[in-house]
Amino acid sequence: MENIKSEFARHLARLGFEFNAPREVIFDKLRKRMGEQRFKEFQTRHGHSASSQEEFYGLFQDIIEGNLMRSMDNCATLDASFSLYQQCAGRLETGMRVIELGCWTGGLASFIATRHPGCSVVGVDFSHDVIKACSDFYRLPNLAFDRWNYRWPKPENLQAADMLLCAMGVVHHLPVNSSLPDPRAVRRSREYTTQRDHAIGYFTHWRSAAKEGALLYAVLRIGLFSRFVAWIDAAQEAGWTARLDRLWHADMTGEKSPLPGLLFEAQRCGQLPEEAIIDGWAWFTRRSHLYGRLEGAAALTAFRALTDKKILATRDYHNQTIMTCDEVGMAGGAGYVFTHDAVYSFRLLLVSNRQADDLAAGVSVKGSSTPIDDEGSFQSSATVLQAAKRGVFSTGAAGGTISGGAFFSGTANGLTGNVAFNTSASKVAS
Ligand SMILES: C[S@@+](CC[C@H](N)C(=O)[O-])C[C@H]1O[C@@H](n2cnc3c(N)ncnc32)[C@H](O)[C@@H]1O
Repeated sequence: MENIKSEFARHLARLGFEFNAPREVIFDKLRKRMGEQRFKEFQTRHGHSASSQEEFYGLFQDIIEGNLMRSMDNCATLDASFSLYQQCAGRLETGMRVIELGCWTGGLASFIATRHPGCSVVGVDFSHDVIKACSDFYRLPNLAFDRWNYRWPKPENLQAADMLLCAMGVVHHLPVNSSLPDPRAVRRSREYTTQRDHAIGYFTHWRSAAKEGALLYAVLRIGLFSRFVAWIDAAQEAGWTARLDRLWHADMTGEKSPLPGLLFEAQRCGQLPEEAIIDGWAWFTRRSHLYGRLEGAAALTAFRALTDKKILATRDYHNQTIMTCDEVGMAGGAGYVFTHDAVYSFRLLLVSNRQADDLAAGVSVKGSSTPIDDEGSFQSSATVLQAAKRGVFSTGAAGGTISGGAFFSGTANGLTGNVAFNTSASKVAS
């Protein structure tokens, strides 16, 4: 994929993108192309409110101008669009219709049309001049452009697609941006309500351009928790299912944090509990399935404070004189693994719900071979999985009584090696 990303970068450079050029250089080039008057207008409209953003995008009259402007946002187009491509490329099949939402000068849309001649690709954007420039510029038989402001219903001629892609093709910055939501009641906050009401418009109209079951891949600036919840709820209300188990990180060159990459399916579902969204968000912000680790009294106190615990699996084992007990469960937005033994040690690992579920089911987490790599804790590994499937259980140390429904590996209190077991297991084979 690294080679393909370089190919994509070259593709964008041919369309006028400048990567890693100092701002002054880009400003200078823009001033020369736009002339003093339009350049001044561009500088004045370079604001953050929703209305100025919409006007702002209407300023650029050709592909090069537009891409010089986008180049001021570092490598945002390259990074976000490519991360969408990485996610969706394996699903692109001959005969599919793809819509790129907020396509700007068609960099991603044209890249997909070139690499996947069997797909028909339509780039849509509300910027009249840019869409006109794209229609005049590109000459690929499977690529078209349509003007659509998707705050409004879709144009009649735009046929529903199998796949929709959106790299930041929306207005995120709304006036109440800075109000702080109450963490205990995010869905009642003003930031949440404003963002949700705004986002519902997009998702509703996008849904009308999606076939039943179509996939929507989006990279959005919704890293703030209240926004994250608001956009996911808005999608759900508009008939999309958010696949939080398929979240990914869109790494952005020169930005401190990645952007969330989200997959939605065009089919109805019920509203997600806030806990499920916290779980997805926590996984996104932590970049791992291990959110936190507490030891000793802190672990005990926190474990006792976890309410509504749902126990998924337990394991007790003796090693000479020491008895140890592990419990895997879920409590609200977090999964947990609580360990305590007869020499007063307690440990609490706060993990994603997905991780806890996978530990309990004895299934490895895709894309992560060692989700919790902590001395004495849990790892998924091919060996353990296979052993679990075959019903063969192994440990580096002899002895032990095992019960529960999970697999464990690592070193704990002198018990080393992989231990896999299921509810029916009571014997350990070394
Ligand atoms: C931040 S730029 C991203 C452009 C491009 N996807 C990229 O990654 O460089 C936002 C794009 O979304 C488009 N856009 C924003 N709101 C829109 C709307 N309501 N309808 C259609 N296009 C919209 C803008 O014109 C602009 O092209």
